[in-house]
Amino acid sequence: MRAVGFDVNGGPEVLRPVELPTPVPGPGQVLLQVAYAGVNYGELQHTLGDFGPPSGPGGVDVPGLEASGVVAALGPGVTGLAVGDPVAAYLPDGGGYAEYALAPAEFAFPLDGITLRDGGGAALVLTTAYGVLTGAARLRAGDTVLIHAAAGGVGSVAAQIARALGAAAVFGTVGSAEKAAYAKRFGYDAVHLRDGFADRLRDLDVILDPVGGQTRLRSLALLAPFGRLAVYGEAARESDLTLPVLPFWKSNRSLTGYNIGDLARRAPRTVRGHGLSAFALLASGTIRLDVSAELPLERAAEAHEVMRAGRNIGKTLLAVDPRLS
Ligand SMILES: NC(=O)c1ccc[n+]([C@@H]2O[C@H](COP(=O)([O-])OP(=O)(O)OC[C@H]3O[C@@H](n4cnc5c(N)ncnc54)[C@H](OP(=O)(O)O)[C@@H]3O)[C@@H](O)[C@H]2O)c1
Repeated sequence: MRAVGFDVNGGPEVLRPVELPTPVPGPGQVLLQVAYAGVNYGELQHTLGDFGPPSGPGGVDVPGLEASGVVAALGPGVTGLAVGDPVAAYLPDGGGYAEYALAPAEFAFPLDGITLRDGGGAALVLTTAYGVLTGAARLRAGDTVLIHAAAGGVGSVAAQIARALGAAAVFGTVGSAEKAAYAKRFGYDAVHLRDGFADRLRDLDVILDPVGGQTRLRSLALLAPFGRLAVYGEAARESDLTLPVLPFWKSNRSLTGYNIGDLARRAPRTVRGHGLSAFALLASGTIRLDVSAELPLERAAEAHEVMRAGRNIGKTLLAVDPRLS
């Protein structure tokens, strides 16, 4: 099968077209014939080596944490899905940048009323956005919310989900004025430049932070009493913070974390629940995905280059076999 993979860690330049055997689904897995694969920051981290050196068959790793397509085969013990079903899947072990990918059946979400194109960029970002808001940040109706990386894949849907779950106000930060103008379509009350947000906001109940470094430090000071700052990424790639604990006690603030890979291993039913809840919002039209770029699979490195430079907006897709649509 056609795929895009890498056999050495590095930047976008390590991605190259490869020919690999079609995988065979094991117990609890489905084989997905891929229509579209989403492009995610986590896949940049994969090539860079944040998850270790490539260790796939023949020393080649195929990135791709989410994809849509049709079920091509069922592994032993899989129920509730049939060959030919259109699904969107979260792929905890990657593999989406390929004609065929293995997905745990538990993380394959039926696409009722959702196109394969939208589904291609949905499973990771929707499940993450719903999980970080409800599980890690414990969002409640009436909360005020700040979302960093507001114009990106997770950020753009997190804003809409927060609103759907009753947030009283939703603010965002981005890296450029162009992105601020673009992000307003997702229902933000205001979108600030990352460099200046700390002077413009205060008393926030929930902050979603996938950026880290100085942005994280400045954000902590903006929490309302019992406010929660949910850490779920490190896009700035600055050194980790070392923080004393007593100020959390003295100022009624909380730091919380979300990691879908850990949840997939330790609480897969929670991941499925978050995914199903978020997909229901997409199917009903309450939230939407904004696919801003679509490239053929072979041009995955270009998509990574744009994301590495922080120039991406909304959701970027790789078209693997759009004829399946
Ligand atoms: N913990 C989990 O389970 C989990 C799951 C999925 C995603 N994530 C995290 O969620 C975040 C968003 O993921 P995504 O795939 O939807 O990506 P994305 O938001 O579409 O793209 C990444 C964005 O990060 C921002 N950014 C901030 N500092 C940056 C820097 N120094 N270099 C490059 N970009 C920078 C950029 O937007 P602005 O400059 O406009 O802010 C960039 O567009 C990532 O940090 C990812 O690791 C975590």
